[in-house]
This record gives sequence, C-alpha cells and structure tokens, in this order.
Amino acid sequence: MVTLKAFIRERAMSVLPATDNPSLELPDLAAIEAPLGEARGLPNQAYTSDAYLALERDRMWARSWVAIGRASEVPEAGDVRPVDLLGMPLFFVRARDGAVNVFHNVCRHRGMTLVTEAGHAGAVLTCPYHNWAYGFDGALRTTPHVGGSGIHTCPGFDSGKFGLKQVRSAIWFDQIFVNLSGDGVSFDDFIRPLAERWSMFDQSLIRHGGADSVIGFDLDCNWKLAVENYCEAYHLPMVHPGLNSYSRLEDHYDIVVDGRFAGQGSLVYSPERTGPALPVFPDLPEAWATRAEYVAHFPNILLGIHFDHFYAVRLLPDGAGRVSETFDIYYVGEAPLGPDYDDVRRQVTAGWNEIFAEDQGVCEGMQAGRASPGFDGGVLTPVMEQPTHCFHRWAARAMLA
Ligand code: FES
Ligand SMILES: [Fe+2]
Repeated sequence: MVTLKAFIRERAMSVLPATDNPSLELPDLAAIEAPLGEARGLPNQAYTSDAYLALERDRMWARSWVAIGRASEVPEAGDVRPVDLLGMPLFFVRARDGAVNVFHNVCRHRGMTLVTEAGHAGAVLTCPYHNWAYGFDGALRTTPHVGGSGIHTCPGFDSGKFGLKQVRSAIWFDQIFVNLSGDGVSFDDFIRPLAERWSMFDQSLIRHGGADSVIGFDLDCNWKLAVENYCEAYHLPMVHPGLNSYSRLEDHYDIVVDGRFAGQGSLVYSPERTGPALPVFPDLPEAWATRAEYVAHFPNILLGIHFDHFYAVRLLPDGAGRVSETFDIYYVGEAPLGPDYDDVRRQVTAGWNEIFAEDQGVCEGMQAGRASPGFDGGVLTPVMEQPTHCFHRWAARAMLA
C-alpha cells in the first residue's frame, strides 16, 4: 500500500518549487483511516508548513470546487471583484447576459493584473498597462495602437486568440464556486448530496441581508482548524456557554457524508429576538420547525440553515497559519431587508459574531499547539468526533488522489 507519507515525499520532490521542503513528515494514510478511538489526526506540518499548503492547493483545492465569493456582490453588468485564491489571482464579473463569469486575473498581453479592486469596470475591462480592453465575456475587444500609432489592428495579430482565460464556475445559494483544474466532477455531482439533503429550502428566495449582514474574521490558524472546529459539537458547553444554555450538547446530532461534508444539527432551534418575526422558508416539513443544520462542505465553506435564515462562511487561507473568514447572512424574501427588520438583522449578526468570536480563541490555540514537537496529531475520540474524522479522511485522500 502506498502511504500518504511516501506519496507526498515523492510528489514534494517532483512538483514543488525549490523553496518547498521535500522532507515533509506525514503519517501513513492508515493512521488517519483507522477506526475512531485509534485514528490519529493530521500531523503538525499539515497546519504549519507552506509547502504542505502548496500541495493542498494543487491536489485538493484546484481539483475540487471552492467558494470564492457571492454573486450578489456583483449585481450589475460590469461589476467586478478580484479574489486571491491561495496566491492565484482571479476575478469575477457580472456579464451583460446576467451570468457571473470568473477569469484568471491577468492580461493576455504582458501579464498585468487586470482588476485591482472591487467596483464597476465601466463599459469594458481595461488593462491599466497598454489599455487592451476585454468584454465581460472575456473577449478581447480593442487593442489600442497595436499596429502603430493610431492603428488599432494589425495584420498577423489575431485578437480572437487572446481572450481572457475563464475558470469553470457555478453558483449555489448565491455562492460562487470554481473548479480551477477544469476537470473535476461536475458541480451538480459535487453538491448533490447536500442539495438533496436541503432540497426543501427554496434557494431562489434567499436575499443577502446587506452591509449589516457581513462579518469578517481573520484567524491566526490554518484553514483546516476552522473546518474541524466547525464540524463538531463536542466543544459546545465549554466554548459557547450562552448557546449551550438553550441548545445543549445532547440536543445535537452528527452529520457525516463521506467525501463531501460533515457537521452537526440542532433539534431545538428556537431564536429569541425582539422585533417582528422573520419570514420563513415556505412548505418546510414539520421537523424543520425546531431544527437547524451546520455543515462544513469540503474544502472551504461553512454553512448554516434554519427556517428563517441561512448563512455561508467562506474560508480563504493566507499562508499556512492564517485564514480569513467571510460570513454572509441571508433571509427569506425581500421583507427582512427593510427598515422594520433593521434591529432583527443586527441581532442575528451579533449572535453569530459572538459565537464565531468564541471559536476564534480555540482555533488559534490549536494552531499554537501545533508548534509543539510534543503534539503528534492527537486522537479523535470514539463518540464525539465522527465529523472531524470524516474531514481528516477526506483531506488525506484528496492529497493522494
Ligand atoms: S499588459 Fe495588458 S495591455 Fe499590455
Ligand atoms: Fe463553536
């Protein structure tokens, strides 16, 4: 059996740039695949090494579907937004046909960065260097002076060959996902298990809550620790005493779908807020009157769904030991966006802000612990950590695929 350790060592020697460390010490896959109680966690290097992150980028993130933004950030044709995806510059733009297109953020001429800030591009996307201009479909439209001063075409130069390079993308619950390699499974296949699980929620009804419904967190930890912490309910009584006072550990159940997502559900979702009640998703089965579910869809999006709101948290690493979280909250229909609901939206945002801030300390504490040679990956306990085990297995297998 090829071990993860041997495989990564071989790949590290052959595909990583010279700055990467070829002596990554990784565990055998068998140690991660072992039954709960015996299974080990990922080793320190998986959380601290930029070389490991570079491999994750190529083997895990590029081949899967990853969330990079939300479609409602670019409502009008020509609205653009740049994204740094593990050092790869991308941008997305609303096209005239209403589609959201994702491109590599690089001019086809001399490689200048095309989009440097979020905003409106004007009639076309104009490169700041020699002013080549691209349509929102990526086609190269004009090439000023390419044939000499005042001459904008040139024999032997076919502008049709130099459109922007598009990235395979899809939108689900307003989130923009990309598959950088272009040859991963179809997005429908990727999302089907969760889409079917949550098929009773009509995603066409969701509306982003606006400026007061976005939270940004910068955590000094590896992105995987944010996923692992989100997956499990075990820490609830210790880290979230306020939440635990009405949604207790015993009110939760695990969600484990191999190869796709893991998390937890609560059987007692019953928000107490002042102000008008929020509109709810129509035609939900009775069980959802008190239920909420929270899943990490691998690799980089944390989701929460309730009868009266939905949220998505995108994780974008900034080096091995840092991750930014962008938390977007959505409501059902247009009414909750109005002034009657200003206080309610703020209460929802404040509630999630408090809970995620409580999590920040333990995520960063686990990262600090991974500087210790005395930590060997730890253990995943037999009952409480099935979702984390599911994520570790996925993360290890993705590196081998
Ligand atoms: S690099 Fe973009 S127009 Fe020259
Ligand atoms: Fe938590």
